[in-house]
Amino acid sequence: MAGARRERAAVLCGLAGWVPPRIVTNDELSQRLDTSDAWIRTRTGIGQRHFADPGQATSDLAVEAGRRALAAADLPAPQGGPTAGLTEDRPVDAVVVATTTPDRSCPATAPLVAHRLGLTGVAALDVSAVCTGFVYGRAAAAGLITAGAASRVLLIGADTYSTIVDPDDRANAIIFGDGAGAVVLRAGYADEPGAVGHFDLGSDGAEEELIMVAAGGSRQRSLPGEPSRAERHFAMQGKAVFRHAITRMTASARASLTAADWKVDDVDHFVPHQANQRILRAVADDLGLPLERCISHVESVGNTGAASIPLALADAAAGNVIQPGDRVLLSAFGGGLTWGSCVLRWPALPSPTPSAPAAAQPVSVSEGGPHAS
Ligand code: COA
Repeated sequence: MAGARRERAAVLCGLAGWVPPRIVTNDELSQRLDTSDAWIRTRTGIGQRHFADPGQATSDLAVEAGRRALAAADLPAPQGGPTAGLTEDRPVDAVVVATTTPDRSCPATAPLVAHRLGLTGVAALDVSAVCTGFVYGRAAAAGLITAGAASRVLLIGADTYSTIVDPDDRANAIIFGDGAGAVVLRAGYADEPGAVGHFDLGSDGAEEELIMVAAGGSRQRSLPGEPSRAERHFAMQGKAVFRHAITRMTASARASLTAADWKVDDVDHFVPHQANQRILRAVADDLGLPLERCISHVESVGNTGAASIPLALADAAAGNVIQPGDRVLLSAFGGGLTWGSCVLRWPALPSPTPSAPAAAQPVSVSEGGPHAS
């Protein structure tokens, strides 16, 4: 008699992050904005962020993270069958880039990233879900794999918020940083360590005005007149976003846990979108998760959008904070509004190199603020 059929799944087998070298401290921002290191740290937990250099685009960051993730990936040699088209030089057959800051509004950034990684010819698409982009991208990549459309996917979350945030807007300029994080997913089975699953995904377009760049799309382009400076930049209603981020991430994380049949106590590491330390702390509190199980490095990189979860994972893995077998819960929230969560049991992975010397020490949320773990 044939045994039970194993459920196909996308399995994590490579991870890396990269942030541009230029560090922008709170003190540097305070020199030209009416703000202070103390205000920023108290309200957000952020101490510094990294900015891309002028002319450096999201694809530049994505290529750096993608190259590192591919080099670090634990990939068995292609064995024919679904991996028949793969070679050592072409180790994946799809590239997904999650970003809010594509190089151009047309075409997508992923084909260029694939090309620059020597992967010309593979499937390549962007996922646009603002700060939820990485979790949505994971679901898209898992779908490509379980549908048989790809056997290995390079998924990159990359954003250069410094290119869309008005540098004179003190409410937003303090929050965001630039970065990229990448994972390699391969076809495998749901009962393997590294299998990503039990997604909870959602959206509420009625609240689109809470986070937006008003100009640049078809809504504005079909109207007469030039867009204003405010319309060309990123706008966010911080207080309302703060409340939604907490309630949506908490509910989504709970839904994913329920689907996985995990209790909150089963979670070894909660890796939320690194929005802001107060949001992370509130979500952990609402979930009833001990704060030391909540991974954060928002202090050293700020909110890096779609890059934040893979960057936090890469730095936590590089610092040996996450061990093989640990149960990990990911949850994100972003403009749209969008939210999403998923779970995985951590696989044995080659240790990624830290995304930047400054980001090498992952920090955990604590009552007294961020601290090195
Ligand atoms: N430095 C000093 N003062 C600032 C400031 C800054 N960088 N930014 C805003 N302020 C001022 C405001 O002008 C306001 O002044 P007023 O009382 O004289 O009007 C005061 O601080 C309080 O502003 P408020 O917006 O109520 O502050 P807040 O406590 O809500 O904190 C955020 C602002 C943006 C930090 C907070 O709303 C937040 O974290 N929101 C979520 C943002 C986020 O993480 N988004 C990503 C989700 S994906």
